[in-house]
Amino acid sequence: MDGTTTGTARLERLVGVLRCPVCEAVLAPGERSLRCPSGHAFDVARQGYVSLLTGAAPGANADTAAMVTARAAFLDAGHYAPLSAALARLAGELSPPDAVSLDVGGGTGHHHARVLDALPRAFGLTLDLSKHALRRAARAHPRMGAAAGDIWRGLPVRTAAVDLLLNVFAPRNGPEFRRVLAPGGALLVVTPEPGHLAELREARGLLSIDPAKDERLRRTLAEHFEQRHTEALEFPLALTADEATALVAMGPSAHHATKAPAAPATVSAAFRLSVHRPR
Ligand SMILES: C[S@@+](CC[C@H](N)C(=O)[O-])C[C@H]1O[C@@H](n2cnc3c(N)ncnc32)[C@H](O)[C@@H]1O
Ligand SMILES: [Zn+2]
Repeated sequence: MDGTTTGTARLERLVGVLRCPVCEAVLAPGERSLRCPSGHAFDVARQGYVSLLTGAAPGANADTAAMVTARAAFLDAGHYAPLSAALARLAGELSPPDAVSLDVGGGTGHHHARVLDALPRAFGLTLDLSKHALRRAARAHPRMGAAAGDIWRGLPVRTAAVDLLLNVFAPRNGPEFRRVLAPGGALLVVTPEPGHLAELREARGLLSIDPAKDERLRRTLAEHFEQRHTEALEFPLALTADEATALVAMGPSAHHATKAPAAPATVSAAFRLSVHRPR
């Protein structure tokens, strides 16, 4: 998608996963765009991602440039490396090496890139609403494609085309997740646990994590998925004051933070990883 041979090959694989968000037909690569037989056309941005958004521009949920820059710096510093590693391990257990993976709300593609490293012949699509995130996702891994789409408007992805669906701190659409997963495919979800960043939340007056979240996740997905496995992942974060500020800036609490006192000495990361199979 960057004009090189690798880019062209990647675009070919990408169209094999996507479908037209307007009429649901297959797409074919054209000159800097993808087209369906009915003539609906979607631009391939100079930065390499495909824009499959229809209708009005994305609203308040898309990550802003500042949020994406903060998240990219934080993730690139390796603070969530144990989370990427856990995702890669589970992906290797759940999926064949030539899997098609889809990360919905995948942001900059950071964790997805580690997942693709663990699946040597897999191809991954990172879908997000934020063009700022997608510019990075398009460069995150040679076997990753990136597309702009809205989880709530239906996924621009072919039915039963996906072997591994990733959803890391992002919204979930149960019926659409079920539709795009192949029989035998798996959905891998990461949610924050109540203790996640607790020290920082306390010090900076941030929103707390809803303890009913796990139950709500199960209910959202229960009609379409069966939970097969769940594991907790906890590790300490060593943060400078600047990094603590970046962590605040990259999350949904960004608008609620009070003036910053010094970062607490220890901040805990606490996640839950869960594996769901289609019913
Ligand atoms: C907290 S971030 C997590 C990003 C990534 N999974 C990670 O862990 O680094 C949530 C992501 O969901 C995206 N998002 C929010 N609403 C969305 C929607 N309706 N459709 C697609 N993506 C959405 C945001 O743009 C953002 O990149
Ligand atoms: Zn079409």
